[in-house]
Amino acid sequence: MELLKKKIKKLAKEKGYIILAHNYQSRDIQEIADYLGDSLQLARLATRIKDEKILFLGVDFMAETIKILNPNKKVIVPARSATCPMANSLTSELIIAAKKKYNVPFVIYVNSTAQSKMYADFACTSANAVEIVKKIDSDTVLFGPDKNLASYVAEKTGKKIIPVPGETGYCYVHNYITKEDVLELKKKYPKAKVISHPEVSKEIREISDYIGSTSQMEKFPKLDKGNKYIVVTEKDMVVKLRKIYPKKMFIQIDGAICNNMKKNNLKNILLALEKEQFEVEVPLEVSEKAKIPIKNMFKLME
Ligand code: 13P
Ligand code: SF4
Repeated sequence: MELLKKKIKKLAKEKGYIILAHNYQSRDIQEIADYLGDSLQLARLATRIKDEKILFLGVDFMAETIKILNPNKKVIVPARSATCPMANSLTSELIIAAKKKYNVPFVIYVNSTAQSKMYADFACTSANAVEIVKKIDSDTVLFGPDKNLASYVAEKTGKKIIPVPGETGYCYVHNYITKEDVLELKKKYPKAKVISHPEVSKEIREISDYIGSTSQMEKFPKLDKGNKYIVVTEKDMVVKLRKIYPKKMFIQIDGAICNNMKKNNLKNILLALEKEQFEVEVPLEVSEKAKIPIKNMFKLME
């Protein structure tokens, strides 16, 4: 394993690739990444780096966002089928129909396809969804695809949020974690604080001490006096947390596994570098339009 990691690092250097990985990647992958972050951090970083070649380790919508923002850079991924079912649940037809019906801005969660982003007005991530919706000059907004994030944003902003596609828009990894799963761990570790991703259901939100994106979860323990945390998100998030805070205890939700994130492994990463595959391609006519809501998001964050 260590040999494989060394080979990957060496080849990436020789071929001029920077390795960007999402926080949900497995321990081995976290260890070979040049940069590990949440979807917003990775998208922003990709625009700042000078490297012309990016090996991206996460799922397709994240790689697409990087390509949209960096059309001249080469972006490769090791597993073409690593996708996000929630992102794929929001089609452009649904957005067009909802906008026609309600005539209000559409805020698209970055966990969405490039094709769908073409029809949205603003993008957002789990780290800035509340801030973005607050700043939009409208009391009602359409929001998709995550219904749980939509309801969290509604709670925090007091605005009317219409979820699209609605009941079917959720992340299975987060949505199926039950209140009982968390309470059982709470019983075992009564002093542990519950820190949750906003893709969890309302019933989990209600028993959480803190809610935030993966990068926000990472900052929380720094200022918090507690030393035990139940981390309600994809199970490998704790790998990074344990490394940053070796004296604190992080408890994972065992069943919370994003199968698509786990399609990347050291073997296919090495192959990706050897063959410089699979290149992420977003047609320019899609990319130009999909960039608009992302740029509008960055403008609102200034
Ligand atoms: P973050 O933007 O918080 O990293 O979340 C991405 C994601 O896919 C959550 O399921
Ligand atoms: Fe999609 Fe959920 Fe996996 Fe995130 S954890 S990539 S939202 S399926």
